[in-house]
Amino acid sequence: MSTATGQTQPNDGTDLPDYPGTRSPRCPFDPPPVQAGWRRADGLTQVRLSNGRIAWAVTRYGDVKQLLGDPRLSADGHRYPQLMETQQHGQPQAFPRMDDPEHSRIRRTLTGEFTVKRVEAMRPHVRSLVDRFLEEMIAAGSPADLVRAYALPIPSLVISLLLGVPYDDHTFFQTRSATLMRKGTPQQERQAASGELFGYLLDLVKRKEREPGDDLISRLVTERVVTGELTHLDVAMNSMVILHAGHETTANMIALGTLALLENPRQADRIRDTDDPKVVAAAVEELLRYLSIAQDMLVRVATEDIVVGGHLVREGEMLVSGVPSANRDGVFESADLLDLDRDARGHLAFGYGVHQCLGQSLARVELQEALPALLRRLPALRLAVPLEEVRFRHDMVVYGVHELPVAW
Ligand code: HEM
Repeated sequence: MSTATGQTQPNDGTDLPDYPGTRSPRCPFDPPPVQAGWRRADGLTQVRLSNGRIAWAVTRYGDVKQLLGDPRLSADGHRYPQLMETQQHGQPQAFPRMDDPEHSRIRRTLTGEFTVKRVEAMRPHVRSLVDRFLEEMIAAGSPADLVRAYALPIPSLVISLLLGVPYDDHTFFQTRSATLMRKGTPQQERQAASGELFGYLLDLVKRKEREPGDDLISRLVTERVVTGELTHLDVAMNSMVILHAGHETTANMIALGTLALLENPRQADRIRDTDDPKVVAAAVEELLRYLSIAQDMLVRVATEDIVVGGHLVREGEMLVSGVPSANRDGVFESADLLDLDRDARGHLAFGYGVHQCLGQSLARVELQEALPALLRRLPALRLAVPLEEVRFRHDMVVYGVHELPVAW
């Protein structure tokens, strides 16, 4: 352990607490209770990550923000292989695992696709998909698994259409994506899933080069590959990042958000009974803060000795940002309460700094459309099993529920 005075004792990790810790079955929306203790204690806490690596857990709001905005911390998986779950030959590095300036050079080729304006233009289309899946779920009859019938297909289809990936292949990319999101997936399985997904997208990139369409992959090929800004491999990798990041996260927010609203019926009424888009938008921000589903993915390495929260972190040491804990810090009044009327802006659910979520505007639009439509169309929506029987995603990098049995 090291302190602000710089004394370091090597630790082999065997006696360290596991990160992120175990959530309480009675409060499945709260971060693991152990993190509240770490937040109150001085300095940082040394932990063992689910892949066995040792890291400093950063759990206070101010510290997480400082850390994610500090250029002395690196996300570069090439330089620091300990940041990577899989090293794959023949694939370029994914830009979330790069540092600036290379990270922003690649990211800039995509930002135009995800501006508020571009995403707002997609809203009517998102709305029509929401209605379609809602009506299909209702037609199939109560009860239903909300994840499979509603929460997963909406973002999955949205991202497929945006990229130009045939939605008919959704079982293929959803299963590979889930394998990559599962903690502790054996290396061989992880590499196979990543290789298959990458190969599939590389073939698609080449097909789009021959027959471009009105989609993101075609635009990257026709506008960025011809200029030499990106290679075919880069386009395949960018597509893989977006496909992977773009559906599991939002799907889990829709499903877990629905469950949180079913468990807090007065709060659900706030969304159901309003026709004010600003009230819905604020409610979605609060759900993002309260649920903070990115439980286990914000890792970095210190490139030099730095002080975080009065605590010395040595060059080469790993840090993990506890976003769920930071969003329950005292900067938000009564932070453990879900209060859809509060101003939750400034939350860190999409991260912070140069790696802040590229798809956040799209995620917001999807949530702003999917949650109110569900509550209004099905006012009698209820959980079809006792809460204790819901399978929460403790085993995944992104928190949520594996299934959500609902009836109406
Ligand atoms: C509610 C849904 C979502 C949540 C909670 C979420 C959360 C996050 C977080 C916390 C990060 C920062 C990771 C880090 O700093 O290491 C991130 C990055 C990212 N997200 Fe999201 N995300 C969501 C939806 C989406 C969607 C819909 C897309 C794509 C269309 C997307 C694409 C990305 C990408 C590409 C990055 C990496 C950005 C970079 O490294 O520059 N996300 N997301």
